[in-house]
Amino acid sequence: MPTPHSSVPKVELHCHIEGAAPPSLVKRLAEREGIDVSGIIGPNGKYIWSDFTSFLKAYDLASSVFKTPADYGLLAETYFRMLAAEGTIYAEVFISPDHAQAAGLSYRTYVEGLAAGIERAKIDTGIEGRMIAIGVRHFGAASVERVVKEVIGSPHPMVSGFGLAGDEREGHPSNFARAFRMANEAGLGITAHAGEFGGPESVKAALEFFQVKRIGHGVRAVEEAALVDRLADEQIVLETCPGSNVALGVYPVLRFHPINILKNRGVRITLNSDDPPFFGTTLGKEYSSVSNTFNWSENDQIAISRTAIEAAFCDEATRQRLM
Ligand code: ADE
Ligand code: ZN
Repeated sequence: MPTPHSSVPKVELHCHIEGAAPPSLVKRLAEREGIDVSGIIGPNGKYIWSDFTSFLKAYDLASSVFKTPADYGLLAETYFRMLAAEGTIYAEVFISPDHAQAAGLSYRTYVEGLAAGIERAKIDTGIEGRMIAIGVRHFGAASVERVVKEVIGSPHPMVSGFGLAGDEREGHPSNFARAFRMANEAGLGITAHAGEFGGPESVKAALEFFQVKRIGHGVRAVEEAALVDRLADEQIVLETCPGSNVALGVYPVLRFHPINILKNRGVRITLNSDDPPFFGTTLGKEYSSVSNTFNWSENDQIAISRTAIEAAFCDEATRQRLM
């Protein structure tokens, strides 16, 4: 039986940096900025939201308190130190240039602030980090293309990927095909949220229109047997976030989550935390709760981390060092 917070080296491929902000940090910066966050942080110090739409609104308000590169540096440093303390050796975080822009920061300033925080955590703990810039689907195709153009126009060694997050029920996938083509041609790793609130059709559309080999969540592919076979055959990697799916009501409890079915059917699975304090989780908790629920051995967990390293958007020298 695996112990909680096992010594297995952990790897994170799917976590939104703004969604990793501890409520205490958000509250402190909100007081400085005169922003009222009492609607999203309760007296118990926890985030308040009730469904996916209200979660996205709470996420937007929490993001709005980060105003300077130093704020973002502190956020990244705090999160990467926490990951390292749980035994994480490598993490990719989704960054949202749209949220930074809304707070008055340029793309470059935002990225440099985050990179400084990740570097500080690395110096002390050895944790390796990369960033994946995301476009927000419900902000529309023009905004998503603006993000890709900014990433390509201002390359940064730690920004190694491009992705699509937000509400997958909005906007036809074909609207975003050009953004993914540009990112792919520029050599960025690509990934898209699909199969979280959308069903198998949404996963198939991501494969067709975005040409991704990694999918954020993807778990609702389980509803179509032929699609599960296809994911296994094509070695598509799923960035699963079981705690997030349970918190958001996609599945009622962890034992009904399809992660184990997908794993047993040969789909390449990774374990991730998504927006950890919003969902009462951490990466370490994801490894331990999933392993306890499905009786995964330590070797099963090591295989999960290995898959994540194989699928990571990093250079080959870094990948070899992590293996
Ligand atoms: N942005 C932050 N968290 C998200 C999630 N779980 N799904 C889609 N977009 C998100
Ligand atoms: Zn996500």
